[in-house]
Amino acid sequence: MSEVVPKLRIKDLGITYVEQNGRRTEAVRDVSIDVMDKPGLGEIIVLLGPSGCGKSTILKSVAGLLRPTTGEILLDGKKIQSVGPDRGMVFQAYTSFGWLTVRENVEYGLRLRGVPKSERHERSKRYLKSVGLEEFADHYPKDLSGGMKQRVAIARTLINKPRVVLMDEPFGALDPYTRWEMQGLLLDASRTEDNTIVFVTHDVSEAVYLGDSVYVLSSRPARVLYRVDVPFFEVRDIGLKSSSEFRAIEKTLLEMLYAPVSQPA
Ligand SMILES: Nc1ncnc2c1ncn2[C@@H]1O[C@H](COP(=O)(O)OP(=O)(O)OP(=O)(O)O)[C@@H](O)[C@H]1O
Ligand SMILES: [Mg+2]
Repeated sequence: MSEVVPKLRIKDLGITYVEQNGRRTEAVRDVSIDVMDKPGLGEIIVLLGPSGCGKSTILKSVAGLLRPTTGEILLDGKKIQSVGPDRGMVFQAYTSFGWLTVRENVEYGLRLRGVPKSERHERSKRYLKSVGLEEFADHYPKDLSGGMKQRVAIARTLINKPRVVLMDEPFGALDPYTRWEMQGLLLDASRTEDNTIVFVTHDVSEAVYLGDSVYVLSSRPARVLYRVDVPFFEVRDIGLKSSSEFRAIEKTLLEMLYAPVSQPA
């Protein structure tokens, strides 16, 4: 019988940084995560862990920016060796190109791939509309608020239709209301794009709101302590976060994060 190949497989991943002076920092230890494909359905996997535990390190290695010290990462059964168009990353810092307009930023990946101008315009128009920035297409990033800049980053990543989108605390610097709006926008995008989003956060409420499943990580070196499947919330409105069902999952995750655990699951 042939084995079903996971869409994304992180297998026994270990990462130790070795600095020039020889100092070693073990950031990730024995992390294994399998994400199966759900055709026609977007999926959000959340990595939840304390600050400095190794979350960005895991994400960068999936992006192909960092080489695993031990273990391996496979996309559709193929080992990840470098960055590639099948993965897109949204960083915590605002990373738009300042010398390009919003539209040019969003079209950047398409231009690199030689997509003709008319098609680029048609597609960027659609993506700018979906993130509510149609009117700002000809502005430069410096004229935008933090939330708007992150919307540019999201549109710029999604327009390339990567199979896996890596998001490293993208809303961490936003005020609570904008953050809430951006989370809604991401959920909408996830439903329409049929991709897998690996979303890093240390915010428990954000993890429950966005995640289909949440992996709770230990403090450094990051290990997977628990995996929690979040039930599907039919209505995700402003009242959801104060509902008893939502609060109960938050409480479970908080206890997992902060209870003294000696043995990872
Ligand atoms: N380039 C590097 N060289 C050496 N050590 C590093 C490097 N990058 C990260 N580290 C160390 O690895 C550990 C994990 O860092 P990482 O950035 O992955 O944590 P994080 O979970 O993303 O934290 P935060 O929530 O604060 O963003 C930290 O102790 C950090 O100091
Ligand atoms: Mg980080």
